[in-house]
Amino acid sequence: MIYAGKAITVKEIDGGFAQLNFDLEGESVNKFNRLTIEELGAAAEALKGADVKGLVVTSTKDVFIVGADITEFTSLFAGPEEELIANNLKANSVFNAIEDLPFPTVTAINGIALGGGFEMCLATDYRVMSTKAKVGLPEVKLGIFPGFGGTVRLPRLIGADNAIEWIAATKEHKADAALKFGAVDAVVGPEKLMDAAINVLEQVNAGKLDYEARRAEKTSKLNLNPMESMMVFETAKGFVAGQAGPHYPAPVEAIKAMQKHSGMSRDKAIEVEAKGFAKMAKTSVAASLVGLFLNDQALKSKAKELAPKASKVNKAAVLGAGIMGGGIAYQSALKGTPIIMKDIAQAGIDLGLNEAKKLLAKRVDKGRMKADKMADVLNAIDPTLSYGDFGEVDLVVEAVVENPKVKDIVLREVEDQVSEDTILTSNTSTISIDLLAKNLKRPENFCGMHFFNPVHMMPLVEVIRGEKTSEETIATTVAYAQAMGKTPVVVNDCPGFLVNRILFPYFGGFAALMRDGADFQRVDKIMEKFGWPMGPAYLLDVVGMDTANHGGEVMAEGYPDRMGKDFKTAIDVMFEAGRFGQKNDKGFYAYELDRKGKQKKVVDESVYDMIKPVVASSNEFTDEEIIERMMVPLCIETVRCLEDGIVDTAAEADMGLIFGIGFPPFRGGALRYIDSIGIEEFNKIADKYADLGALYTPTEGMREMAKTGKKFFG
Ligand SMILES: NC(=O)c1ccc[n+]([C@@H]2O[C@H](COP(=O)([O-])OP(=O)(O)OC[C@H]3O[C@@H](n4cnc5c(N)ncnc54)[C@H](O)[C@@H]3O)[C@@H](O)[C@H]2O)c1
Repeated sequence: MIYAGKAITVKEIDGGFAQLNFDLEGESVNKFNRLTIEELGAAAEALKGADVKGLVVTSTKDVFIVGADITEFTSLFAGPEEELIANNLKANSVFNAIEDLPFPTVTAINGIALGGGFEMCLATDYRVMSTKAKVGLPEVKLGIFPGFGGTVRLPRLIGADNAIEWIAATKEHKADAALKFGAVDAVVGPEKLMDAAINVLEQVNAGKLDYEARRAEKTSKLNLNPMESMMVFETAKGFVAGQAGPHYPAPVEAIKAMQKHSGMSRDKAIEVEAKGFAKMAKTSVAASLVGLFLNDQALKSKAKELAPKASKVNKAAVLGAGIMGGGIAYQSALKGTPIIMKDIAQAGIDLGLNEAKKLLAKRVDKGRMKADKMADVLNAIDPTLSYGDFGEVDLVVEAVVENPKVKDIVLREVEDQVSEDTILTSNTSTISIDLLAKNLKRPENFCGMHFFNPVHMMPLVEVIRGEKTSEETIATTVAYAQAMGKTPVVVNDCPGFLVNRILFPYFGGFAALMRDGADFQRVDKIMEKFGWPMGPAYLLDVVGMDTANHGGEVMAEGYPDRMGKDFKTAIDVMFEAGRFGQKNDKGFYAYELDRKGKQKKVVDESVYDMIKPVVASSNEFTDEEIIERMMVPLCIETVRCLEDGIVDTAAEADMGLIFGIGFPPFRGGALRYIDSIGIEEFNKIADKYADLGALYTPTEGMREMAKTGKKFFG
């Protein structure tokens, strides 16, 4: 044994070679936590003096190395920039030590090798990859970029243009693609991996391969003349900046670092990388994106905790084949759970099936699905006008018209058709789950399952717990949502549940801005610049003015103190004029079909005359005021949801907003946004607008947090 640690062991193997093996104790995957990096340093030190002819790097686990340990990032990134740079240089000295070993080295990539995991592979002279493995550098997804030498070694290995693509596009590459790029040297079946790796070392020892030349290529400056360098990096910066947008600086900064160190040899180049990495790690974007990753992990582990109480949904049913029902049937079938789709009208069924066909055809067109799979998915949707096969269904999603009387009848009817332990759920957006449960025989088997439109695109599902809902019902519904490829967030019953309860105060902020003289197009532009996928007027057009009007009434009844109607709004004007938005081609904007047949938004000047009667005063607003007046009510309502126990954790609230209404991910969610401003400062901002009413009044809890300096996260 040359070295034995808790994450790494190094031993001599046949042929006079050594094997460095990753197998992190007590974990299901290998990752680069502090311990692993420390041990890699010690292992390199031990190997330096070992009498061996070559080294093969392996993993015992199914994965090779998934990457750095992201759970360590928050505390790591909190330190000063200088410390971060020093930290990176220290870690890099370990990778350099592996690269500089006095004998040839090869990595046997058996499974996923991402981020730091792939950077480990890049540190060795050769890479042999299993057909089952995948490699990539996804760091910019977290607002940072590769920091273990990836920006240095990859361009020197596969060319700057390719390396830029790998780093900026964050794709995971399969073995054949990785080979084509030259990122790995050979691809073999998993059973032949070790032999192939040893074979490389033998070839080097037989003088057939020149590992020193290989090594020199990775450690010297990039082979580009100034003109080529200009072309590659400048073009890429422009293109990538356009793709990433102004709020996500990491991909462009990665290119800048690569450009800057392209004329340097390894050790100097690593310093440039470390500086750039530290700069990115200190941004609020990185803090938000890392937080988002951790929130997602927290949600997943919560679902995992529920899993033992869940029953498997082998067959589902959806009632109502409309916009939502059709989408739910499609998504369930696509992800492998067969589903009955029942409607009362053949026309409804035709509509639902056509929608599914259209979506599937698009997938086939884009090469994301084979034509025969399309038939399988369609066959997994069983359209019907009767309750015939409902006895064998494990879970029902009710998605009929939003009318409490109709839903009451339909739910009672279906309860008589299904087995005793079938779970019933409702996709209602506005009706209380407790109210719908009232006339059911088995209210414990009932909960809300609130999808967002369009179902196939929107990742969130709110699972709504009624007073009598059992944990088994919640667990099974959560598991089914996950099986459909969605992110479920469990919330308690209240008007609007989580997401709409928070969205309507945002619309309230918009309505008041309009009343006070703001231009809706300007508000849209500013909020889009702030990071929303669409501004509030455009969003209202997408949601539909009829839906917004109905939702607004429900919210006004549920929260009269702050959402009660005390003035006529521009949204009311649109609704009364029958301008329902995209669904009938006119709302705040008008909609026309472009050449590709896609709905395109155009300005309709007549709207300004229509809303004139509800504009009470003409004020000039700064961009900042518009952002504050829009964001403050949304943020405060999110806090209320947390304080009222509608969601259990800040993480779930923020994820609900990001996945449900497209809250700008780089801002991390409403609660992280408050944290980033500082709650004391946030309260001050809110207080500036005290005369706008209770939507702008921070809660007692928020005042208390400001006094004690408490944060929602950490
Ligand atoms: N559209 C959205 O953006 C959205 C988003 C989230 C939730 N929801 C909710 O989803 C539900 C459905 O909304 P939608 O937009 O799909 O409506 P929709 O009008 O497009 O579809 C409703 C369908 O239900 C059918 N139906 C009516 N009574 C029925 C019955 N007794 N049995 C079976 N089918 C029946 C109708 O024929 C119609 O095909 C509503 O509760 C709505 O609030 C809608």
